[in-house]
Amino acid sequence: MKIVGLSCFYHDSAACVIEDGCIVAAAQEERFTRKKHDDAFPSAALRYCLAEAGSLGSGAGVDAVAFYDKPVLKFHRILETYLSTAPRGLGQFSRALPVWLREKLWIEPRIQEELERAGIEPPERIWFPEHHESHAASAFYPSPFEAAAVLTVDGVGEWATATIGVGEGARLVLLEQLDFPHSLGLLYSAFTSFTGFKVNSAEYKVMGLAPYGEGTYTDLILRELIDLKPDGSFRLDMGYFGYLDDLEMTNERFAKLFGGPPRAPEAPLTKRDMDLARSVQEVTEEIVLRMARHARQLTGKSRLCLAGGVALNCVANGKLLRAGVFDELWIQPAAGDAGGALGAALAIWHNELGKPRAADGRHDAMQGAYLGPEFSPAQIRAYLDAAGAVYRELSDAEWAPVVAQRIADEQVVGLFHGRMEFGPRALGNRSIVGDPRSPRMQSLLNRKIKQRESFRPFAPACLEERIAEVFELDRPSPYMLLVADVKRERCLPPRGDERRLDLNEWVNRPRSDLPAITHVDFSARVQSVSRATNPRFHRLLEAFDALTGCPVLINTSMNVRGEPIVCTPADAFRCFLRTQLDCLVLGPFLLDKAAQPPLGENADWSGSRSGGSTWPGSATD
Ligand SMILES: [Fe+2]
Repeated sequence: MKIVGLSCFYHDSAACVIEDGCIVAAAQEERFTRKKHDDAFPSAALRYCLAEAGSLGSGAGVDAVAFYDKPVLKFHRILETYLSTAPRGLGQFSRALPVWLREKLWIEPRIQEELERAGIEPPERIWFPEHHESHAASAFYPSPFEAAAVLTVDGVGEWATATIGVGEGARLVLLEQLDFPHSLGLLYSAFTSFTGFKVNSAEYKVMGLAPYGEGTYTDLILRELIDLKPDGSFRLDMGYFGYLDDLEMTNERFAKLFGGPPRAPEAPLTKRDMDLARSVQEVTEEIVLRMARHARQLTGKSRLCLAGGVALNCVANGKLLRAGVFDELWIQPAAGDAGGALGAALAIWHNELGKPRAADGRHDAMQGAYLGPEFSPAQIRAYLDAAGAVYRELSDAEWAPVVAQRIADEQVVGLFHGRMEFGPRALGNRSIVGDPRSPRMQSLLNRKIKQRESFRPFAPACLEERIAEVFELDRPSPYMLLVADVKRERCLPPRGDERRLDLNEWVNRPRSDLPAITHVDFSARVQSVSRATNPRFHRLLEAFDALTGCPVLINTSMNVRGEPIVCTPADAFRCFLRTQLDCLVLGPFLLDKAAQPPLGENADWSGSRSGGSTWPGSATD
C-alpha cells in the first residue's frame, strides 16, 4: 500500500511516499525549484517521490494521500483572529484572504489535478490529519522507541502551537495542547525578526549568535512578555507583538522595552543583538525543559520524541538531554513543516488504518535521512561530459584515501554522492567538508565559500564509534540535532578578555585543537556518522583519521548564501564553479577547480536548472 504525504503553502513544502509503512522517498520542493524554503505545491518533489516508488507513469496509482494539516480549520483561526482584532488587522487579513480563496482552501482538487497530471489515478480519499498530529507522528513513528512521550513545538498549526502526546506501538494520542497566539516558535521568530534576521529561515542564526551574548534580558522577557507556568505552558502578553493584527512580528512597545528600534537587516551586530539572542535562547531552553518535565509526568514514559520547528534548536535539545529528564531522546531530522508530510503519511498508516509498527529500541526508520534523489556514475559522467568538465574517475579503493588527502592538505572539498538528505541539514551526501584542525578554516569557509556571516560556527561530522573521545557526548547524534561540548582536555582555557574583542577577532581565536568546529562557548553541533547508514562517508572519515589521527571533518551544506542545498550534479557543479571550493567529488569522479574551463565557457551547465525544473530525475535520466 502506497501513501503519499504532502506539506505546503506555509514554508518548506515537501512530499514523500511510504510503502507498507516504509519510507521510500522524501524531499523538499526547494531542492528542485532552487527557491529557498519554497512554499508552493510540491509538484516536483511529488513527481520525484512517485518516480522513486515506481508509480510515475506506471498507471498503478497510489492508495492514499495525506495532507499535513486541516486547511479549513487553519482558515477559521485566521478569520477568528481577524474578528477579534478588527478593524486593526485589516491590512494583514486582506493580504491573506485572496491567497486562501484562490489556493489554500482548495487543496483537495489541487492534489487530484497534480496526480492526474503525473498520470496517476487519484485515490478515493485524501486525509487531513491536524498539523501537530503530523509533527507528532513524524517524531514517534520513525523513532526507535516502542513507547515514548511526544513533544511538538512550532510556530502555529491550526490552533495548536505545542502539544504533548504519548505513543505506544502503533497508537499515538495527543493529550494536551497550547494554543495560538501563545507560541514558543513565534516568540523565537519575533526575536529573530527584531535582531534583523529572516523569520522562518534564520532562527538558527539567532541560536548561533547566542553564545556571544549575555542573558541580560532573560528576566525582562520572563517578567514582561511571558506568564510562564511550572508545566511549561504560558501566555504571551500580546501588547508587545504585532503578529495578530500587523505584518510585523513585534511593535513599538516591544522596541521600547528593549531599548530602541530593531536591527536593520545586514547592519552590524551590536552587543544588544547578541544579548537578545542569548536571552531568548535561555528562555526557550527553560520552556522546553519545563514542557519536557511535564510530558514525563503526564505520560510516565522514559523516552521522548521531538518535532516541530523548535525541535531544530539543537542547543535546547542538548540541554534537555543533559538535564536527564528523559533517558533517551529522538528528534525527527525534518522537524519543521517538511517533516509534516512524512508524519501525515505515517499517521494514516498507523493511527487511522491501525497497521502495526516494529521498533527495535535501537534503529530508527529514517535511513539516515538519505531519502532523496541519487545519481548513478553513468548519469554523472553524462552530465560532466555534456558540461565540458575536466574530471578523473577514482577507483573504489583510492576514493577515500585520495579525498582524505585533499582535505588534510587544507583543501575545501565539495562532497556529492548517494541520496540527498531530507530535512534542513546536509549529512555528508550534499556537503562541503574540510579539515577541522585548521585555524583559518572557519573564516575561510564563511567568507569565501558560503558567503555568510563570519560568526557562525561549523558542525563536525565524527566517526560514530569515536564520538566520546572528542565530545562530551555518550551517544550517537546522527542528524546534527544535539549540541555538546568539545572534550575539556581538547579545549584551550579562555583568556577572559573575549567579550571585549571585536566579533571577528573572537571568532578567529582558537579555542581547541579543532578550532573550526568549536563554538565560542566550546560547544559543537555534532553529527555522528555510522557505517550502517552512510558507509561511504564513514570510509572517508576513517581514511582522514588514518592520515591525521583526527576522526572529525567539518561538514557544512553544499550551497551558497540564499540558495537551497544542491540536489543534482548540475547544481553541485554550478556551486563548485561559483565558489572557491578547491575540488568537487561527484560520486566516483574528482574535479579540480584549477583544471576547469573558465566560468562562462560551459554553455551547458549555466542555465541547466536555474529557473526551476520538473522531475523526472534519477529514475529516468
Ligand atoms: Fe509546524
